[in-house]
Amino acid sequence: MSGERIAIIGAGTMGQGIAYVASVAGFEVAIADAAPESLSRGMDAIRSSFRGGMDRGKISPEQHESALGRITHHSTLGDAVRGAAIVIEAVPEDMVLKRATFAAIEAGAPATALLASNTSSLAITEIASAVQSPERVVGLHFFNPVHAMKLVEIVRGRLTSDPTVQRAQAFAAAVGKTSIVVRDTPGFATSRLGVVLGLEAMRMVEQAVASAEDIDTAMRLGYNHPVGPLKLTDLVGLDVRLAVADHLHATLGGDTYRAPDVLRRLVAEGKLGKKTGEGFYRWPEGES
Ligand SMILES: NC(=O)c1ccc[n+]([C@@H]2O[C@H](COP(=O)([O-])OP(=O)(O)OC[C@H]3O[C@@H](n4cnc5c(N)ncnc54)[C@H](O)[C@@H]3O)[C@@H](O)[C@H]2O)c1
Repeated sequence: MSGERIAIIGAGTMGQGIAYVASVAGFEVAIADAAPESLSRGMDAIRSSFRGGMDRGKISPEQHESALGRITHHSTLGDAVRGAAIVIEAVPEDMVLKRATFAAIEAGAPATALLASNTSSLAITEIASAVQSPERVVGLHFFNPVHAMKLVEIVRGRLTSDPTVQRAQAFAAAVGKTSIVVRDTPGFATSRLGVVLGLEAMRMVEQAVASAEDIDTAMRLGYNHPVGPLKLTDLVGLDVRLAVADHLHATLGGDTYRAPDVLRRLVAEGKLGKKTGEGFYRWPEGES
């Protein structure tokens, strides 16, 4: 498996992280983005991940050189997916965009390629209906930051075949992750549970129950969460969280996933968290 070509579509937060772990694991990585500035920002972030990996003693300078050399970047999706064994889509959380991207991927990738989406919440079955061979479409949900988070949630669409799930499991293991297999339901296992905590923490900020920092400290020290729910929202991206919340609200109903006003307001103001310098905290330090 190692040495195969992995195409990654979207060089944002997640595309960068997946490119990093796949290249360190020995895969040839071809990454593409529709926006030239996002592609160059993504490549800068990948280089900085390698420097971080060396600083933490996770990779040697030789590994750094060879792994970075295995990554190519492309301005068109067609160039990236050509010859790919696995294609991983990591474009924004929008069904229309995902379906269009999958149709383009199928047109350019080998007929044997595994077609995976990194969606946090959207239905794999619906994404897969955009292609002629839905049996090779699967959810491959990585977590942020990809190099540190050990889980990959594999989502089995209604028509996903057993060999596809097995290839997804093998790939997750090859990049050093533990995987779980989840039926295609809104928010899968992880987002469905994790988003509840984040949204409730935001409602608590709105109701002045405590400061964002104290709410996060409550969950870190009282519940042993490595990161509090509001800081995690900043790391994920408030726009990403809002899209997921809106989707879960529309599909699961009730009030649990109704997006709090503070989330909608911050997104409208362009305060998307770490990636724009401000969300519930101010970045790069992550201070409140
Ligand atoms: N951010 C997280 O913590 C996180 C965690 C798990 C899963 N996800 C999921 O991963 C996916 C990507 O999220 P992200 O946070 O990396 O988003 P992002 O906004 O950081 O990056 C998305 C990238 O896709 C590019 N793009 C947009 N349209 C494109 C197209 N047609 N072709 C190629 N590239 C295109 C954008 O220019 C951007 O660089 C989403 O489905 C999201 O729900 C995100």
